Amino acid sequence: MFKKMFYLSGILLFAAILLLNGCGQQPRLTFMVGGAPNELAFFESLLASFTAETGVEVTLIRQSTDSTQRKQGILLALRGQRPDPDVMLLDVAWIGQMAASKWLEPLDSYEIRRQDFFTSIIELADTYENQLIGLPLYIDGGLLYYRRDLLDKHGYQNPPQTWGELRQMAEQILPAEREQNPNFWGHVWQGAQYEGLICNALEFFTSAGGGFFVGTATPVIDQPANIKALRYMSELIHKQPISPPNTFTDMKEEEVRMNFHNGNALFERNWPYAWGLHNAADSPVRGKVGIAPLPGFTPGKGASTLGGWHIVMSRFSDMKPEAAALIKYLTSTTVQKQLSLKLGWNPGRTDVYDDADVLAANPALKDLRQVFNNAVPRPIIPYYSNVSQILQKHISATLANRATPEESLKNAQNEVLELMKSYGIK
Ligand code: GLC
Repeated sequence: MFKKMFYLSGILLFAAILLLNGCGQQPRLTFMVGGAPNELAFFESLLASFTAETGVEVTLIRQSTDSTQRKQGILLALRGQRPDPDVMLLDVAWIGQMAASKWLEPLDSYEIRRQDFFTSIIELADTYENQLIGLPLYIDGGLLYYRRDLLDKHGYQNPPQTWGELRQMAEQILPAEREQNPNFWGHVWQGAQYEGLICNALEFFTSAGGGFFVGTATPVIDQPANIKALRYMSELIHKQPISPPNTFTDMKEEEVRMNFHNGNALFERNWPYAWGLHNAADSPVRGKVGIAPLPGFTPGKGASTLGGWHIVMSRFSDMKPEAAALIKYLTSTTVQKQLSLKLGWNPGRTDVYDDADVLAANPALKDLRQVFNNAVPRPIIPYYSNVSQILQKHISATLANRATPEESLKNAQNEVLELMKSYGIK
């Protein structure tokens, strides 16, 4: 009896090993990436071409669009030192933390030409202890999308230059447009409690002359400029509201985009990816959308947060040469050009910006290059994610009308100082 059970469990174990090894097949390269459904579909097609060219099979591990959730998934794999994913995309906001944990494979020995990419971005985000640890697949910056047709209809030739103008235009246009569409709002933006809120807050704060940190070790969160900006953000939702009441509960990139896409908003704050989708053949707002730098509290003082996603190789990958080949493929001129043409993204490679096809398809790119060049990075510190969590919690308290801007920012400042003390940072 025992002998039989022993024999049986042996067979089962053998079967399980076969199954785990894909019945003796080659291990597959894995690429972890998140995004909107059209972006993931596009990655699938790129991977199919990569396989056709190289014979290397790749599995796409899908993630959501939410940066905070994406980070959790990646942390699980890297902390566990798992061989998969081999290649992944990291947000510019937290690539520093991953590099400092020594989880990323240096790319210098794989014949990658760092000079083909924006030098400032490579220095800011992709270099750690003089080693190249990633490449910018694309660069993001916050932009203002507006309904050109509606501004025209109500007598405005240009998009707002200041936050005051934005409110005034929305207040004038809202009542008339609501008669036809009761779901119509003035301005939609990322106000939910997640990383996107910090990107939006940094834009409002900087455009009032404020910001989160001076240098990397001095938090200046409760300064008057930030208080003024946070009051403005809260009033968008609560005082003569021009932003919807679910701004602080639900509004992330895709919720915001869909709202504007379906014709329910006059202004939208979003990243460049929304441009291609708003102008897609089946888009209700196709041809009616304008794009501009974000307003400031005074003209010309608008600010855009630096975002973007960087392609890296895990140090624990068991297919490093194949992983390097995939990184080179996705950052090649041909693919970077397609990312721009098909998705409206801003490539990390500089040569694509001089390409005639790219400029013809996206003329706004030329004017907006300035916005990306001046984009404001989030603090580049290894404990940034903890700072972000603190800021998210307190800024959200004001947006939910549970605390005044003064209280929230004072609390955030104190908590960040406590955190720094606990890390021994003076
Ligand atoms: C975009 C940006 C990224 C940012 C995120 C916030 O994906 O590229 O840098 O952190 O939005 O939601």
